[in-house]
Amino acid sequence: MKLIRERLGLRVLLSTALGGLLILLVGQLLDSRTSSMDLGPLVPTELTGDTLSTLRKFEWQARTPHPLDPRYPYPYPFLLNHPNKCEGPKGTPFLLMLVMTQPQDVGVRQAIRETWGNETSVPGVVIRRLFVLGLPPPLFTKELRILLEEEDMEHGDLLQVGFLDTYNNLTLKVLMGLEWMAQHCSTARYVLKVDGDVFLNPSFLVQQLLQPNGPPRPDFITGYIYRDTGPLRSPDYKWYMPPELYSQDKYPPYCGGPGYVLSVPLALRVLAVAQTIKVIYLEDVFIGLCLHQLGVKPTPPPPQTFLMYPIEYEHCTFHRLALVHQFQSQELLRIWPDFQTGNITCPVA
Ligand SMILES: *[C@@H]1O[C@H](CO)[C@@H](O)[C@H](O)[C@H]1NC(C)=O
Ligand SMILES: *[C@@H]1O[C@H](CO)[C@@H](O)[C@H](O)[C@H]1NC(C)=O
Ligand SMILES: *[C@@H]1O[C@H](CO)[C@@H](O)[C@H](O)[C@H]1NC(C)=O
Repeated sequence: MKLIRERLGLRVLLSTALGGLLILLVGQLLDSRTSSMDLGPLVPTELTGDTLSTLRKFEWQARTPHPLDPRYPYPYPFLLNHPNKCEGPKGTPFLLMLVMTQPQDVGVRQAIRETWGNETSVPGVVIRRLFVLGLPPPLFTKELRILLEEEDMEHGDLLQVGFLDTYNNLTLKVLMGLEWMAQHCSTARYVLKVDGDVFLNPSFLVQQLLQPNGPPRPDFITGYIYRDTGPLRSPDYKWYMPPELYSQDKYPPYCGGPGYVLSVPLALRVLAVAQTIKVIYLEDVFIGLCLHQLGVKPTPPPPQTFLMYPIEYEHCTFHRLALVHQFQSQELLRIWPDFQTGNITCPVA
């Protein structure tokens, strides 16, 4: 008995010491990362991705996670999945749309299917659409599970990932969407990350910005580019960033979260680098950090084509842009018939 207790004591002591060592090691690692020059390399080059993600996993376990600290990499399961979505008689998609909605947004998804999410809206161009969602709050799990299964049975376009669907977990949704793409749709040309509360003009996006007959652009990403921004340090802000999760006082340039599109080869590299640097909950900033790490700069779109604020609908204005943020689904359904009307000629801009 005594022996067992002593052994146990020793084991506890040992594991505590090991844990401490690990924390120290990780702490140093993080230090060397964050104290490097102004937005310099975020990962010491001598470390391989594998070692680092293993260390980070232990680091995550060794402390109580901060509520704004998403756990990644981590093998979140796909609870609703469509591995064959990108296969089919029409061939490999030109554009994969990953639309972020919450489980309860049933009406929003339907409005999107009937408007800009329509896979056949650009003649001659193969588009595939998937809605990425997480888990509803525990209280609604039962009711929503049946609803979601029915919805998915009918439309076959839900990609549900096994973590709580909250704003603070949005980065995980995007990364899991990219993981799905890497596994099941890596021959597509472009991938669009888009939120559910936008107006999108798929023809403009495809014909004007992506150009199906244009040359491959391995480093292409575009959207509304935020430059010279930095973390908001007051906890009252929606986009509050505690210094312990991101210590530098600037963010690299990044494309605004409501909608950005990137070439699949770039998306694959972003995903690879995301395994090796610290993930932050601000999804668009995080993609910016990955680009910075890769040495890739976002491509500016033509002016006034990605609007981060709502404007009044006007047929010709909306035909000359790609995306408008903060568009409710009722409004979307209301304007769509007019937007699609082909008999209004717009003056050349
Ligand atoms: C998508 O568009 C096609 C043709 O443009 C149309 O026939 C079809 O009904 C639309 N689908 C939905 C769900 O609205
Ligand atoms: C993110 O998802 C994890 C796993 O479901 C959950 O434990 C965590 O509470 C979520 N984070 C937030 C901020 O909701
Ligand atoms: C053509 O435009 C007029 C006026 O803008 C509209 O009333 C009509 O429905 C349109 N026709 C078609 C076929 O879209």
